[in-house]
Amino acid sequence: MANRTLTGRTVLITGGASGIGAACARRLAADGARVLIADVDGGAAAKLAAELGQHAVRADVIRAGDIEAMLDAAWQRWGRLDVLFNNAGIIQGKPLLDVTPADWDRLMDVNLKAVFFVLQATARRMIQQDPIAGSELRGKMIHTASIAAYRGGLPLTAPYAASKAAVVSLARTAAQAFAPHRVTSNCICPGVVQTPLWERLDAEWSAIEGWATGEAWKRRTAGIPLGRPERPEDVAGLVAFFASADSDYMTGQAINIDGGLVMGN
Ligand SMILES: NC(=O)c1ccc[n+]([C@@H]2O[C@H](COP(=O)([O-])OP(=O)(O)OC[C@H]3O[C@@H](n4cnc5c(N)ncnc54)[C@H](O)[C@@H]3O)[C@@H](O)[C@H]2O)c1
Repeated sequence: MANRTLTGRTVLITGGASGIGAACARRLAADGARVLIADVDGGAAAKLAAELGQHAVRADVIRAGDIEAMLDAAWQRWGRLDVLFNNAGIIQGKPLLDVTPADWDRLMDVNLKAVFFVLQATARRMIQQDPIAGSELRGKMIHTASIAAYRGGLPLTAPYAASKAAVVSLARTAAQAFAPHRVTSNCICPGVVQTPLWERLDAEWSAIEGWATGEAWKRRTAGIPLGRPERPEDVAGLVAFFASADSDYMTGQAINIDGGLVMGN
């Protein structure tokens, strides 16, 4: 349910053209935020931005030049950035014994290296800007980890789970580094969310097991305590909270939003 708690806040969402990022763009815009949707799929980002009356930039977050250009787009438009949603990510389903160095690098480049350098480049600018209107904070950073960070992943997602554990670690170090500058850093840890990312994982996983397409998804979602798969909109509520003033006194946290799949860390 949308409200106007984010009126005027400026938000950059990486990986904002699909899945969780897109649902958050919709929700945050409905809550009154001004949103810049960044995605390597520039066409999809532009389409969603046009639909929402918001803005888009094509950016591949593994490229340093694209990170700067993406931030320039925010600063040129608004002169500042209140909220970073550091969300772009990929997955690969492959048996641990078959993972190659190239698989490892491709995944870590997006899920860890890019998350770090987006965080770093944003923080450099945020710590120099005036506080957010009506807040004691200069900026807020939200990073997308996963419940895979805590439990280890599924047996087919070893590099992915490692990348997400590292994102939680980075978010906490950043929280310590930037608290004196009044910039916060928190993580969200979604569960099993119905998005194109999970469709790809289901296809890879089901093929490895010799199951029909959709079977891996069915099995993985069957035991969710709250009784249904997670929707991107379920995640958007938590991101809206982390973007709002209601979470201004939180930093260094990693919050599970998973229908009860993981209870405790
Ligand atoms: N779907 C889930 O079950 C789930 C669970 C936990 C965490 N997550 C995490 O949530 C985030 C979003 O995933 P999703 O499920 O919405 O996936 P998705 O595939 O629907 O969306 C990811 C978006 O990121 C973009 N992207 C990928 N590589 C990029 C790059 N190098 N530069 C810029 N953009 C890039 C894609 O184009 C896409 O629009 C990811 O970090 C993912 O690991 C997803």
